[in-house]
Amino acid sequence: MSKKQPFDRRAFFRTAAAVAAVAGAISLPSLAFAQDAKIKIGLMLPYTGTYAQLGVAITNGFKMALEEAGGKFGGREVEYFTVDDESNPSKATDNANALVTRDKVDVLVGTVHSGVVMGMVKIARESGTPLIIPNAGAGAATGAQCAPNIFRTSFTNWQPAYPMGKVLADRGIKKAVTLTWKYGAGIEAIEGFKEGFTKAGGTVVKELFLPFPSVEFQPLLTEIASIKPDAVFVFFAGGGGVKLMKDWQAAGLKGKIGLYGSGFLTDGVLDAAGDAAEGIETTLHYGDGIETPKNKTFRLNYAKEFKLQPDVYAVQGYDAGLLLIAGLKAVKGDVSKQKEFLAAMAKAKIDSPRGAWTMSKAHNPIQDVYLRKVVGKENKVMGVAQKALADPARGCKM
Ligand code: PHB
Repeated sequence: MSKKQPFDRRAFFRTAAAVAAVAGAISLPSLAFAQDAKIKIGLMLPYTGTYAQLGVAITNGFKMALEEAGGKFGGREVEYFTVDDESNPSKATDNANALVTRDKVDVLVGTVHSGVVMGMVKIARESGTPLIIPNAGAGAATGAQCAPNIFRTSFTNWQPAYPMGKVLADRGIKKAVTLTWKYGAGIEAIEGFKEGFTKAGGTVVKELFLPFPSVEFQPLLTEIASIKPDAVFVFFAGGGGVKLMKDWQAAGLKGKIGLYGSGFLTDGVLDAAGDAAEGIETTLHYGDGIETPKNKTFRLNYAKEFKLQPDVYAVQGYDAGLLLIAGLKAVKGDVSKQKEFLAAMAKAKIDSPRGAWTMSKAHNPIQDVYLRKVVGKENKVMGVAQKALADPARGCKM
């Protein structure tokens, strides 16, 4: 459910036309009324369930970017319409459709879960509403289903996982097992890792799955213990990731078999995971301690405003805000100039806390992927696993 009252566009234009007619009669600029209308942003994110914390961090980062820019574009303020998508793919198209047809949002922003985002992609393609994806890595959104009005400020599921394959193979690791939730994001992350690992000489000997968002890891950990691989690569995030790291430690696997993953495993959860996370290495397009003035300022401001440490999700939300601002500035807040609005976003250079990045042709960030290690309460950057990595965007014709 949207938290705002439905907006009756026809009634609005009837009133606007009447006001404009009167304004014209007494020779006031009739444009002023339209410029006062707010820019309507539909935020569709999870605020309940295993990804709830991710949705909150994205929202915080997004709003912070817009506030830092003064909150007004061409004299127009921003109005938010917020939907909890519950990370539930079966409700995704209805939720996105309500934002577009009932609330008449100018821009859709969302979401976290790959299955849910595909519902948003469908509605964005059908309605032409611009969509900015601040997390969900579904390859198709900037692959086979890419479109001029669809942009992503995060990653594809392939992107942070692929470089870890070579990192492990270069250490002489030959035999790996993979473990993930069986849905788009997990499947694509494992594919990415496997591609990098096998190209560099490794072999994935077993692929283990459990349904999303189950955390019944025990039988799978028993199986891993009996296979005794050199390494296990996983995709998990949020509360599920915390449970995996704790169960891994409790099962006595910590220190015996190397546990690696896309960096979502350890991002934003280090307080909750405690020493179960210590020493875990991951690859991701962000790391807490990136030594740039931009990252330091961002972290300071975020912590001050929200009394929370920022994480990769906060950064992606912030960058979604920066991208939108680049578009809005180009059209002075007039999003009806859609061609110029989209063109400005496509060529924007985003000065991100993760490091500056630009959009690929398919509208996904070209970005460095860092190798990180959990040291205390920090995802410490150990180096760059792959510089300026672009997703292959298989199937994108644009
Ligand atoms: C996804 O479903 O695409 C997804 C969810 C959580 C993450 C990363 C990707 O941390």
